[in-house]
Amino acid sequence: MTIATLGILTSGGDCAGLNAVIRAATDAAVGRGWRVLGLRNGHLGLLANPPDILPLTADAVRGDLLRAGGTILGTTTKGDPFAFPDADGTKRDRSAEVLAAIRALGLDAIVVIGGDGSMRLFDRLLTPAGIPWVGVPKTIDNDVPGTEFAVGFFTAVEVVGQALDRLASTAASHRRIMVTEVMGRDSGYLALFGGIAGGADAILMPEFAYDLDAVAAHVRRVTHDRPSPVLVVVAEGIKRPAEERRLKGSVGTAITEGLQSRTGFDARCTVLGHVQRGGSPVMFDRLLGSAFGARAVHVLAAGESSRMVAWRGGLVTDIPMTEVTTGPSFVRADSQLMRTARRLGTYVGGAVTTS
Ligand code: F6P
Repeated sequence: MTIATLGILTSGGDCAGLNAVIRAATDAAVGRGWRVLGLRNGHLGLLANPPDILPLTADAVRGDLLRAGGTILGTTTKGDPFAFPDADGTKRDRSAEVLAAIRALGLDAIVVIGGDGSMRLFDRLLTPAGIPWVGVPKTIDNDVPGTEFAVGFFTAVEVVGQALDRLASTAASHRRIMVTEVMGRDSGYLALFGGIAGGADAILMPEFAYDLDAVAAHVRRVTHDRPSPVLVVVAEGIKRPAEERRLKGSVGTAITEGLQSRTGFDARCTVLGHVQRGGSPVMFDRLLGSAFGARAVHVLAAGESSRMVAWRGGLVTDIPMTEVTTGPSFVRADSQLMRTARRLGTYVGGAVTTS
């Protein structure tokens, strides 16, 4: 397979570091003499008439792109091409239109920068059609199987850690429990990494059952039973406590109310939300994005397809898409950082051992 024209797109929720991937993949492809077309707004740009493209040249990616948050290509979490919602609410399969646009643009291969949902979508779309493609994992949730880290994760961890730093001082002044709700969808990686880095006393994750009475007892223990600063990190995907389900607001608010009533200590909740997705990428995300983008082009140049670049044991590698499309990954109870949290005396729920 000879590649003359490469398409690059970003798909799914944005995060920091996407532009670093776009820059690296473009530079690597241009260096091989390929023409590069940025495809705007994920697959939606391919459904537009004419297709919505942004030609990517070495000049176009020079300058501050490495440092810039978001994605210059735009992205989407909407409009499944296999069940595309029309204005009247009916759904129809528009996948053939996407493939037709790819062929009309003369794309010989595509780099898809996306999360686990996007990997499944494009695997379903491109692999059976014989269109060469390589995936680059990105998400603040860090739940893409097969890679230890995805682009954007460490910037979000930084945001969580910095927020805990700021909350620690105001918590100390008022002797409050500060609950911080973080994103992560159904996975607890962001809560665990950010919580450890920011010195949380308790970290609640979707993967592990928690007991609010036990969390309150833990708070009383670490504060010697008197109002003192406490940091609690709550992943958005945990189940809301049964008796707090009537409450409006976020799961973090419910946990805050539950802890306040159980301990008698003053408690406040901060929901970090999309702050975790925005802004300039931290250095590790720039490094990961650069290495992943360059590797993706290398994989395609080697004639490989339906693979995802990955970070494993300090090395950049690539793995078959069949190892990725199995669904999101979750924090394991026996993972090293879960052991770290337990050894630090942090409440992490589940089968916690104090030994
Ligand atoms: O998957 C990334 C993520 O930020 C999740 O952590 C969060 O649950 C979700 O996307 C938010 O989606 P939206 O931007 O559509 O509100």
